[in-house]
Amino acid sequence: MYGCSLYLFFLLIGMEYLDARRKPYNVGKVIFGLVLIALCVFVLKQSPGFGDNSVFSRREPGVTHVLVTGGAGYIGSHAALRLLKDNYRVTIVDNLSRGNMGAVKVLQELFPQPGRLQFIFADLGDQKSVNKIFAENAFDAVMHFAAVAYVGESTMEPLRYYHNITSNTLLVLEAMAFHGVKTLIYSSTCATYGEPEKMPITEATPQFPINPYGKAKKMAEDIILDFSKRTDMAVMILRYFNVIGSDPEGRLGEAPRPELREHGRISGACFDAALGVISGLKVKGTDYPTADGTCIRDYIDVTDLVDAHVKAFNKAEPGKVGIYNVGTGRGRSVKEFVDACKKATGIDIKIEYLNRRPGDYAEVYSDPTKINKELNWTAQYTDLKESLSIAWRWQKSHPHGYGANQI
Ligand SMILES: NC(=O)c1ccc[n+]([C@@H]2O[C@H](COP(=O)([O-])OP(=O)(O)OC[C@H]3O[C@@H](n4cnc5c(N)ncnc54)[C@H](O)[C@@H]3O)[C@@H](O)[C@H]2O)c1
Repeated sequence: MYGCSLYLFFLLIGMEYLDARRKPYNVGKVIFGLVLIALCVFVLKQSPGFGDNSVFSRREPGVTHVLVTGGAGYIGSHAALRLLKDNYRVTIVDNLSRGNMGAVKVLQELFPQPGRLQFIFADLGDQKSVNKIFAENAFDAVMHFAAVAYVGESTMEPLRYYHNITSNTLLVLEAMAFHGVKTLIYSSTCATYGEPEKMPITEATPQFPINPYGKAKKMAEDIILDFSKRTDMAVMILRYFNVIGSDPEGRLGEAPRPELREHGRISGACFDAALGVISGLKVKGTDYPTADGTCIRDYIDVTDLVDAHVKAFNKAEPGKVGIYNVGTGRGRSVKEFVDACKKATGIDIKIEYLNRRPGDYAEVYSDPTKINKELNWTAQYTDLKESLSIAWRWQKSHPHGYGANQI
């Protein structure tokens, strides 16, 4: 039906155009024709059959539309789940280089209603795609999680890290500015601080990152900060400490690619050891100047982390930048972590004690006073064993990650 009316409109306009050429002063008819076309396009765009994207392309009173970049990944998928539960409209953009389509499918099954969630497969390094995405969607805010995020890998492939983190953030920021998207919540990291002399780390601790990952994130922060001086964009920069855990209701988990295992994080290695995927756990360094000789880190549960994002978003103000550490404020040693993991899994994981890994620092933990005070946020999941038990339940029931939907 719409095709037919379109055809008639174009026929009419064609005739009007020819007519107008014969009578050059008959502009009124041409304008009338153009108005009819505009009307037709408007009616088409409103029609349910026009395409699922249409609802994402317009603003609706009472609906907040958030672009979650990297939403197929570990933290991004948990954030998307929380946003959807809180009735936000969510668009996930991910190139699936590291994330899992299985996580997106879980979200799609939980929120199948039109206008709740859309997934766009795209690479944020591709400027044309990024611009198209922003041109076709009416975003109110961007939570920019997408990134390659392994310290060790960054030392081996620095250019990849600068490109993926710094350059892609610049593209996203340019697109936001061009298309008038008003709020940015940026995923940064405690790796931007490097090896501070004084613990705990506050937001005022000088940033001297020591690896390309931390440096690339710091550069991205600098770009955002410089830009924010010239715009009324509301910006929140969240510097996460070590993220662990998974959805307490067991719908999502952490499932990095097998090839990334060697760069992996301690929780992944613990679970792999408990599942028998690797023969045991290698603890690197037992002679650090800490109580038990192993490194100390601040482990933040992903549920608390995404809560910090929502609180940051709610408090974001035009023309202002908020920078917050997101951590528990408490350091735990690797030995403590491993004990908690053994208890959570009920498996006596074999531990091998090795020499220090170059580039690891002895102690890193946050001072979360600022986020406590200003965003009224405090970590709730501070029992390591509890967080690891929740994550272990998902790991045990998903020994192959998201399985066939891994990619
Ligand atoms: N996991 C942690 O402990 C931790 C700590 C501090 C900061 N962070 C930051 O949090 C964010 C999310 O980390 P994560 O642990 O969920 O990682 P992840 O690898 O699980 O997720 C990252 C997602 O981004 C996607 N992605 C990467 N490059 C992309 C590109 N060019 N275009 C589109 N999508 C792309 C990946 O496919 C993946 O789905 C990152 O910015 C990371 O630096 C993580």
